[in-house]
Amino acid sequence: MSDPFAFDPFDDATRRDPFPLFARARREHPVYPHPGLPIVSVFRYADIQAILKDPETWSNNFPAPPGFDPEKIPKPSMLGQDPPEHTRLRSLVNQAFTPRIVRRLEPRMHEIARALLDHALAQREVDLVAALTYPLPVVVIAEIIGVPAEDREQFKHWSDEAVANLGNALFVPPAPERLERITTLLAEMGEYFSRLADLRRRDPREDLLTGLVQAEVEGSKLSRDEMLRMLVLLLVAGNETTTTLIGNAALELLAHPDAAARLRVEPQLIPSAVEEVLRYSSPVQLDPRLAKRRVEVCGHVVEAGQIVVNWLGSANHDEAVFADAERFDITRQENHHLAFGFGPHYCLGANLARLEAQVALQALLSRTRGFERVGDGPLPLHPSIVFRGVTQLPVRLLPT
Ligand code: HEM
Repeated sequence: MSDPFAFDPFDDATRRDPFPLFARARREHPVYPHPGLPIVSVFRYADIQAILKDPETWSNNFPAPPGFDPEKIPKPSMLGQDPPEHTRLRSLVNQAFTPRIVRRLEPRMHEIARALLDHALAQREVDLVAALTYPLPVVVIAEIIGVPAEDREQFKHWSDEAVANLGNALFVPPAPERLERITTLLAEMGEYFSRLADLRRRDPREDLLTGLVQAEVEGSKLSRDEMLRMLVLLLVAGNETTTTLIGNAALELLAHPDAAARLRVEPQLIPSAVEEVLRYSSPVQLDPRLAKRRVEVCGHVVEAGQIVVNWLGSANHDEAVFADAERFDITRQENHHLAFGFGPHYCLGANLARLEAQVALQALLSRTRGFERVGDGPLPLHPSIVFRGVTQLPVRLLPT
């Protein structure tokens, strides 16, 4: 008899290498109800893609956890809204993240990456997260929004706290103190942005904050609360994710020295290497939805009110879509991974994140002869099961 299938997303060994279990799940349990919970996990690419593109059936607006007063739960940002509210809110910020606009930021990104590496190389042994993978995205998004990059330690504190429990709460209801903490955190961030918004109203600039303030001033387009929630979302959504992507890229290059060597001589492969990291070691592993009605997924009935957890990390290793799916291949063509989601909530910052990761890799590879891990114990994992990534990555940099 074969082993009974069980999938515990909190299990440390599973989190470090979920792919054998994902492969078995795709074969034998493409839809897996978690015992005792109103949650089912979904593992196949085709099912996940179909769910993410159908907001009529699948909502992003989750109810308060059992036992919590909905009035006391912070209101969702656009990420937690369905059309038509979602469409209205997204149209207000879309323009700031088009490929053309993002390209304009490239020289500045190189400058930031160069300065960070100068500093890191002077030390030789650094935690790559603190030295590069965290500060690059946070400085870039701070400059786009128009908030002082000097406040980045404060942003880190906010982002870390805001995402620490992300996704975990789907499976284990948060402690009341945790929700209180999040409410206080959002209030602190709201106050911070509110002060800056007042400054921009008096003294407009060429930044996203001024654009949002103008949308608010024009009346019906954006309420004050919506504006503040949007700013918090932009600040938080792009940080941990892009930090994790750059960190995972460094980890994959450490694990695949042949790929690292090839990128040093063929840097034109960096964009496809970044796509492969997104697929192979997806920073965001899961993307949940709430069933609005009774619906079938791959022959399994999901009741209205149940949550499906879409495992993007599994979809991106689906052999039905990707040839030789378990192989890390920086030259992979037709890499239609779901690392940025799919459908109406497709990541707003995808262009930005890609470019930041490309710039970071280019800097790391061109300014060093190599880099190697310091220490050999297991690295600390991100506390949220949403993320596949480490919170520290000590390395020794070998300057060119
Ligand atoms: C590697 C880096 C990133 C990854 C893997 C990532 C991943 C994702 C995913 C999977 C979603 C879809 C969520 C859903 O379907 O509910 C999403 C949405 C979003 N992302 Fe990203 N993200 C990254 C970077 C960024 C950056 C740099 C920004 C900065 C602007 C950003 C802003 C957003 C926003 C605002 C949404 C919500 C979009 C909406 O609701 O319409 N992300 N991201």
